[in-house]
Amino acid sequence: MNGIDWDTLGFDAYRTRTVIFSHYKDGQWSPFEATETFSFTFDPFAQVFHYAISCFEGLKTFRQKDGRIAMFRPDQNAARMKRTADFLGMPCPPKELFLQMCAACVENNLEFLPPSGHRASLYLRPLLVGMHQQMQLVPYPEAVFAVMCAPVGSYYGEHLRSFAAVIPGNYDRAAPKGSGSYKIGANYASTFKPYKMAHDQGYTELLYLNSATRQFVDEFGSSNFFGIKGNKYITPLSDSVLPSITNKSLQVVAADLGLKVEKRHIPLAELADCQEVGACGTAVVLTPISRIDVKPVLEEAEVTASYRFCEDGAVGPMCTKLYRHLTGIQFGEVEDIHGWCYPVC
Ligand SMILES: Cc1ncc(COP(=O)(O)O)c(C=O)c1O
Repeated sequence: MNGIDWDTLGFDAYRTRTVIFSHYKDGQWSPFEATETFSFTFDPFAQVFHYAISCFEGLKTFRQKDGRIAMFRPDQNAARMKRTADFLGMPCPPKELFLQMCAACVENNLEFLPPSGHRASLYLRPLLVGMHQQMQLVPYPEAVFAVMCAPVGSYYGEHLRSFAAVIPGNYDRAAPKGSGSYKIGANYASTFKPYKMAHDQGYTELLYLNSATRQFVDEFGSSNFFGIKGNKYITPLSDSVLPSITNKSLQVVAADLGLKVEKRHIPLAELADCQEVGACGTAVVLTPISRIDVKPVLEEAEVTASYRFCEDGAVGPMCTKLYRHLTGIQFGEVEDIHGWCYPVC
């Protein structure tokens, strides 16, 4: 077999068996194909290199307790990619093609799908890039859509435990009415440098504030924000955060578990009233945050406020419940009453 230790998987690029791809040219998508070479040819003038005409999605496939294979809410990823592609003026694969290519990617790489019982999954990365050779700043209907995958475990290297985050006061993620709510590669480019500095200082995550006033919580660099305040699950209402499918699902799970869900502006000072805080997303699943420090200048030592939620590493009771319930549905251990699991084969 492939010799993978399913229990120690992190979250890394991995060369599996095949990538599935299709081209859009002359008004249509080509029949999708599988390639084992993992290489594509692009013209140096292709839009993607100069103007970052590129977007992507991320979703997971699980081998469930009873042996069935299920993708988690792929229809939502298809819809979000359409919204992003429209923003970039790109052609986008229709939902049926998106779903078929994701399923084909799983079927072609089955030996990389972790067996059940390992809390690991097969991460699918659908990618849409602008191929046309041009200099002008106008959209052009030519693209390649590719779906690749990687077996993944825990994003932060360990199963459920909490991490410290920092608010980098001198860096913003997204402008008001800008690109923040779209899953474009360019949004992530601006996080590389602050992430490096934060990691060097012992922080795992960056928590961005709204860039217009810097008064409200927006989201983490990799994921959405939620807080537990008494019996409430609170999460930011903002035009510049990515509409997370995990967060949407957790809001439903939270309500199912008896919490009141509030999606609204969250003033930074309100962190002091939260008992638990978490990062949520396909990659990070639900990761509890133990401490959030506010740094007006990330490069400097000054910390103007520090909010604490759990001791380092500890996980609060509500984060534990939400995590168990959501992952229980994904692994087929908890009844999927909302119909989120999409069978593959
Ligand atoms: C910036 C950002 N926010 C939020 C999320 C979470 O979105 P989802 O739950 O759809 O994966 C992601 C991706 O995982 C992300 O990159």
